[in-house]
Amino acid sequence: MCGIIGVATKNKQAISILLEGLEHLQYRGYDSAGIAFIHNNGIQIIKSQGQIEALKQKVDLTINSNLGIGHTRWATHGRATTNNAHPHQCGKITIVHNGIIENYLTLKEELQQKGCVFQSDTDTEVACALLDDYYAQYQDMKQTIRQFMKAIQGSYAIAAICMDEPNTIYAIKKDSPLLIGTSSNQNFIASDIQAILMHTNHYYLLDDLEFAIITADSTLFYNQDGIEIMKEEKEASLSANSASKACYEHYMLKEIYEQPTTLKATIETVTKLLKTNTSLLSRLASYKRIDIVACGTAMHAGLVGKYLLETYAHIPVSVELASEYRYKQNFLDPQVLVIIVSQSGETADSLAALKMVKEKHIPTLGIVNVVDSCIARSVDYVIYTQAGPEIAVASTKAYTAQVICLSLLAFSIAKQKNLLAETQIEMIEKDFEQLPELISALLANRDDYKQIATNLYSHSDIFYLGRGLDYALMQEGSLKLKEISYIHSECYPAGELKHGTISLITEKTPVIASATNSILDDKTISNLKETAARGAPIYLITNNVSLSNDPSITKYILLPSTTDFVLPILVSIPLQLIAYETALVKGCSIDKPRNLAKSVTVE
Ligand code: M6R
Repeated sequence: MCGIIGVATKNKQAISILLEGLEHLQYRGYDSAGIAFIHNNGIQIIKSQGQIEALKQKVDLTINSNLGIGHTRWATHGRATTNNAHPHQCGKITIVHNGIIENYLTLKEELQQKGCVFQSDTDTEVACALLDDYYAQYQDMKQTIRQFMKAIQGSYAIAAICMDEPNTIYAIKKDSPLLIGTSSNQNFIASDIQAILMHTNHYYLLDDLEFAIITADSTLFYNQDGIEIMKEEKEASLSANSASKACYEHYMLKEIYEQPTTLKATIETVTKLLKTNTSLLSRLASYKRIDIVACGTAMHAGLVGKYLLETYAHIPVSVELASEYRYKQNFLDPQVLVIIVSQSGETADSLAALKMVKEKHIPTLGIVNVVDSCIARSVDYVIYTQAGPEIAVASTKAYTAQVICLSLLAFSIAKQKNLLAETQIEMIEKDFEQLPELISALLANRDDYKQIATNLYSHSDIFYLGRGLDYALMQEGSLKLKEISYIHSECYPAGELKHGTISLITEKTPVIASATNSILDDKTISNLKETAARGAPIYLITNNVSLSNDPSITKYILLPSTTDFVLPILVSIPLQLIAYETALVKGCSIDKPRNLAKSVTVE
């Protein structure tokens, strides 16, 4: 979490570059923000509690500055106060930091014994004091950073300024993302290329235990021994406005409406990849088991993948939360494929699980949205989803891109193993082709979801029910609602409710369900009737027209009839819109829900 930016420029516009960059990094955390810049031969720091807007109110944009660093925070150590906001300054050193210093308490005690007095509750201030302590000894920043890397345990992407070198920014990295952007007369550091895209799309990626020295006209890279290293320059294909809100009220709404395009792009890219890379497909088809490892929404995409891979490709799949998987006994061998699913490609638990698996020499595949992210670079093979930048904290288009990617894998493996009849293959291929149109048709009915939202928004508990694939999909629907509308919701397998939880069902607990499997539909409907008998209003998503005559259902959302390979996407669209419209009626902060951040880079 946390976003960091830095700029060394000859055009004197450092402050506006920092503020503009921070706006693009807010998805990484938004409880406080701050900047430090060189002014009148000194370092001036301005910080504020709350989002970047609050910081902007405090900044005089007419001030000229050639160099600065900035930060937007997701609090880990210490509350979200102005005092705990970054940058932190100790002696001659000022820093911003993304990550967690695990041994900060020990270091803090040692520094306190030397007379250091701390102003904040943060681990970052300890890191800053340690840098200052080493700098006082060595009077040399390269040597200081090398010692610092040896002493620190934990994760860090740090931008540091030393009072003695007002034209230089030092960038240090381990386990948190950091890149160095380059253009003529100015160079940058940033957590993410989006923060600097309006200035350059040329960049270098810093690897773990490397550091960089940046001025307006030079970028130099070093390993932990202080030896200069050469790095490959990269070029981002994103444009500055690919992450804009366009005419939409929220990023989330824009991202929901982008799905016909993002899914078309993902289907085309992944189909082409699996068709042309036949050795990859044969390998994928040969594994005796697959472990899908992910967090949150990405894990929910894995649940859909499990259903499709087991049902159609006949491979047993275990779906695991990365935060649990990394610490448990996993019975791995080279016949097991581990698939890591991640939008950001930098989620700490997913990355740690991946490292653990790699140490055991187990084959890995990444399904990742952000190009060149840590996970994308660490897996044996990566398939990129084509969702484009996802800014809203609540994942929508990245989730459906992950789902369609897993669906295409299941389809391709099933075909490779001759498990599908020719007629089935034709139907499935037609479904993939028609999917963008089918989604557009669903998206055209926004008013239906507005209506449902007006019925839901005042409730404090909502239940999501389904069986089989529908249960997997409802888990994501339930998370979406909780995340942005702050309404408590629970997702249950429809048949499990009567084993205890039905005691919570009353006329005050609406039920949202999907029934899209002809074999299970009758059973699901019986379970829904059990809730209707206790007064619960029922909202049902189904592709089974015959269910639409049932008087116990309050409202139907009827889907077209398709194969299982695209059905999960069609069920997801109404769930996304129900969550969005409900949060909208409640007046919630939809793109930046409280307590959350887009990239979860802490354990
Ligand atoms: O970037 P990742 O896909 O690895 O993120 C995993 C989760 O943090 C993420 O899916 C989270 O649950 C979503 N923001 C929820 O909408």
